[in-house]
Amino acid sequence: MIFDIHVLFLGIACSFIVNKVHSASNSNISNSDSLVLACGAPTNATDNNGRSWIPDSKFLASSDNSIVATALSQDPSLPSTVPYMTARVFQSQFTYTFRISPKARHWIRLHFYPPSYNNLSSSNGFFSVTADGFTLLNNFSALITAQALTQAYIIREYNIVPIQTGILNLTFTPSPAYNGSFAFVNGIEIISTPELFQAAPLVGFSEQSVEVEQNTVQTLIRLNVGGQYIPASDDSGLSRTWYDDSPYLFGAAFGVTSQADENVRINYPTGLPEYIAPVNVYDTARSMGPDPKVNQNFNLTWVFQIDPNYTYLVRFHFCDYQMSKVNQRVFAIFINNQTAFPDADVIGWASAKGVPVYKDFTIQVSDRSGDEQLWVALQPNQTSVPEFYDVILNGLEIFKINDTKGSLAGPNPVPSPLATPMESEPKQFAPSKSRKTGLILGAVGGAAVGFALVIGFVAFLRRRKRMALGESSSIAGWLPIYDSSRSSETGTTISGKSCGSSRISNIGGSLCRRFSLAEIKNGSMNFSESQVIGVGGFGKVYRCFVDGGTEVAIKRANPSSEQGVHEFRTEIDLLSKLRHRHLVSLIGACEEHNEMILVYDYMANGTLREHLYKTKKPRLLWRQRLDICIGAARGLHYLHTGAKYTIIHRDVKTTNILLDEKWLAKVSDFGLSKTGPTLHQTHVSTMVKGSFGYLDPEYFRRQQLTEKSDVYSFGVVLFEVLCGRPALDPNLPKEQVSLADWALRCHSRGVLDDIIDPCIKGEMAPECLKHFAETAAKCLSDQGIDRPSMGAVLWNLEYCLQLQNNPDGPEFVVQQKANDAYAMHETLLTIEENDKISQETEDSSSNEIFSQIINPQGR
Ligand SMILES: *[C@@H]1O[C@H](CO)[C@@H](O)[C@H](O)[C@H]1NC(C)=O
Ligand SMILES: *[C@@H]1O[C@H](CO)[C@@H](O)[C@H](O)[C@H]1NC(C)=O
Ligand SMILES: *[C@@H]1O[C@H](CO)[C@@H](O)[C@H](O)[C@H]1NC(C)=O
Ligand SMILES: *[C@@H]1O[C@H](CO)[C@@H](O)[C@H](O)[C@H]1NC(C)=O
Ligand SMILES: *[C@@H]1O[C@H](CO)[C@@H](O)[C@H](O)[C@H]1NC(C)=O
Ligand SMILES: *[C@@H]1O[C@H](CO)[C@@H](O)[C@H](O)[C@H]1NC(C)=O
Ligand SMILES: *[C@@H]1O[C@H](CO)[C@@H](O)[C@H](O)[C@H]1NC(C)=O
Ligand SMILES: *[C@@H]1O[C@H](CO)[C@@H](O)[C@H](O)[C@H]1NC(C)=O
Ligand SMILES: *[C@@H]1O[C@H](CO)[C@@H](O)[C@H](O)[C@H]1NC(C)=O
Ligand SMILES: *[C@@H]1O[C@H](CO)[C@@H](O)[C@H](O)[C@H]1NC(C)=O
Ligand SMILES: *[C@@H]1O[C@H](CO)[C@@H](O)[C@H](O)[C@H]1NC(C)=O
Repeated sequence: MIFDIHVLFLGIACSFIVNKVHSASNSNISNSDSLVLACGAPTNATDNNGRSWIPDSKFLASSDNSIVATALSQDPSLPSTVPYMTARVFQSQFTYTFRISPKARHWIRLHFYPPSYNNLSSSNGFFSVTADGFTLLNNFSALITAQALTQAYIIREYNIVPIQTGILNLTFTPSPAYNGSFAFVNGIEIISTPELFQAAPLVGFSEQSVEVEQNTVQTLIRLNVGGQYIPASDDSGLSRTWYDDSPYLFGAAFGVTSQADENVRINYPTGLPEYIAPVNVYDTARSMGPDPKVNQNFNLTWVFQIDPNYTYLVRFHFCDYQMSKVNQRVFAIFINNQTAFPDADVIGWASAKGVPVYKDFTIQVSDRSGDEQLWVALQPNQTSVPEFYDVILNGLEIFKINDTKGSLAGPNPVPSPLATPMESEPKQFAPSKSRKTGLILGAVGGAAVGFALVIGFVAFLRRRKRMALGESSSIAGWLPIYDSSRSSETGTTISGKSCGSSRISNIGGSLCRRFSLAEIKNGSMNFSESQVIGVGGFGKVYRCFVDGGTEVAIKRANPSSEQGVHEFRTEIDLLSKLRHRHLVSLIGACEEHNEMILVYDYMANGTLREHLYKTKKPRLLWRQRLDICIGAARGLHYLHTGAKYTIIHRDVKTTNILLDEKWLAKVSDFGLSKTGPTLHQTHVSTMVKGSFGYLDPEYFRRQQLTEKSDVYSFGVVLFEVLCGRPALDPNLPKEQVSLADWALRCHSRGVLDDIIDPCIKGEMAPECLKHFAETAAKCLSDQGIDRPSMGAVLWNLEYCLQLQNNPDGPEFVVQQKANDAYAMHETLLTIEENDKISQETEDSSSNEIFSQIINPQGR
């Protein structure tokens, strides 16, 4: 969506006494002065969460050197157009002056959305922000930060000490180090808070503590551990956002999550005000699981990226709603591998079941290498011989404490090579041209996306969004426009040949071989059309012969478009490090004369889709389909948990599941993959990518990418396999266009039988079908948290296979238990397996594990 540009100069310069805005939240805090400003907005406006934002024009202190601007493009992942689509832009130093209560601490939240504004390219947007002598940001680039975090927008939250003068000057200064640099801001929140901090022990220095209440802090992480995302509107009065913790879990040791029973009330004790954290934080938790033997051998560990050279406050929120006695669950708390507390006993602290308690620790992080990470680990304390070897955590917050110079600023994060480039600067959009509004549709997945398909997709999304927001808002502007103009910046890298080539030679050592262009041309009959076996977003896929007869598949970047350079590098980076029986192996690459070519194992039987429908090939048997689903699930499970970082595929679909000559399923096409969150922010949000029909609705709403988005897409694949029809079929009646919706509806009505592929109906054991459909339906749960992990999906598919082979087999008792058991075993399996290239040896080894679980002795 291209927006008209409004350039308004506002010459209002006055300071202003902040109105007391009565917040609509369920706050117990009396007399809060709060101010929620949409910068550059012409009038009062309400965002999608019902929060009202007022224009900032009354708070401009210095003279009229600011510009009001409207963003030139709207990223589909913005939660709301307010406050992100308008900005105030400063080309020289600029100060906002707020009159605030001199006794209270205040949140300062700054919202940045860095597309281009007017004729200013956001790549020049380097600036600093100070508040009452504290440096909040320095040499900050919202663009680079957003790229590195793969987020469209950035929110920074600070909690500032009381200002005696009662006047808060918030100053934006463009960096003098760059010509044409400017500062901008989209939203500012200034909200008074009660005293939230007190002295906290310094880990590693006995008897020392840091008086946090005298410092200004920046919020780095705020997690509802074992629970789900809590939006600002559901916070207990302080408009904080709480995120899911699972992206930060280290390795595969993810433990189990739980929720308090309905009959356990969360009782805030006197002295612990409800604003410390909402009930929703305390009534969910993550613990290790039921098996003490397993628990003895691992730590529940979270890893966060942080800036070195700062002291951090780590706040643990606990509430044990399962145990009721002292010494039932005793554990050690480690921060950065140092003992913060040796024998934590939540009941001991809180004195009763269901009573919240929080503990603060501070830790100094120096700038030795490796110190850009903060590790939080919990380990059952065996020396105190508790009744259960287990740990628990309900919530976690990490704050950065200002340094001696009053600074909180860190360097800009470095965008990882896996990060998606932001929408390029649309330089051609001069104001006069931009009148023409229109939709730019990307060819997602490269396939020809027919208009009918797009319409179907829009209808599908519109319904989803309505469901999500409880309102019918305009859908214009949040179509996936990103793919349309892969940035011109990447274009320059492709022509920088030397850079590209050196890159290839750097990779993977012996794992990735370099092919010469001559060799490839020769083997593919000079890229003959007769050798084309597929077309993807990246370019065409050819069959090719190398080494005098070895058949390979080559993927050639379309030389006429510069799309896909990024995908090319991503695939090389990822695939050269990953080896798995159920992932397509990258053999090598070729980058010569502006050609970019990836060389893979040849998959004799092509894609899964071409064996399911619209094909002349014989249809797959049910048993074969089940095997293929299990194989693909293994591949995805490995991506999610087997490597050092969680890898999220992001484009799971039947054309990305390939079949080799033995019908072994292999997951392919990592062009859109991302590693899980490893960088500074409190969550991983990203621009929506993927394929129509397979997109996780929650990912679309919240832009928080987790591996559960792949689980959703895989659920669509499972139904596609079961029903033998495409994920989206625009030729069908409206309610049937989206397979995900239609299958779910049929499943809930109990008429799924009607849409099962007639070719396989007769072969399915009814129990197997039932379980398979339930598994697929679970994958399609609207909320990520309700979807099973890929490990649990895999377990369930294995179980389906058992049911198919042995329909009279023993009914497995409690489904959820089984999933947990699987999680525990996975922990043992993969916890050691970090960077190492793991080759799943034989199916037999994993089958052993499954049979162990299926005969749950002693559980
Ligand atoms: C905007 O909101 C403020 C605070 O809620 C209110 O005082 C003001 O009257 C509103 N202005 C308009 C034009 O609605
Ligand atoms: C941007 O445009 C404004 C007027 O529209 C002009 O004053 C300013 O110099 C321009 N800035 C740049 C960097 O071209
Ligand atoms: C805030 O800014 C105003 C105007 O620039 C200035 O007069 C005042 O001294 C500043 N106050 C503080 C506390 O810095
Ligand atoms: C800024 O531009 C001027 C001329 O326009 C040039 O002399 C100067 O070196 C530039 N400075 C930087 C930091 O690029
Ligand atoms: C906060 O308000 C809620 C109702 O809005 C009330 O139930 C609770 O007791 C209050 N808490 C405190 C500490 O005042
Ligand atoms: C950390 O602080 C030390 C001493 O103040 C300084 O020499 C060093 O450059 C700082 N490191 C970083 C990464 O800022
Ligand atoms: C903590 O220990 C682990 C290995 O046990 C190591 O990988 C990690 O870097 C350590 N973290 C810190 C901050 O020292
Ligand atoms: C748990 O963490 C502590 C502190 O980092 C470490 O000493 C211990 O070896 C870890 N235990 C396991 C099983 O990883
Ligand atoms: C377990 O607790 C005891 C005291 O109860 C303590 O001495 C010991 O160091 C703790 N173990 C660990 C691993 O922290
Ligand atoms: C934070 O900044 C204040 C004001 O500059 C300073 O007094 C205080 O010592 C700083 N805190 C730390 C931990 O250095
Ligand atoms: C500002 O940030 C950019 C990008 O992170 C970095 O390259 C540059 O060195 C920084 N400049 C200063 C003066 O710190």
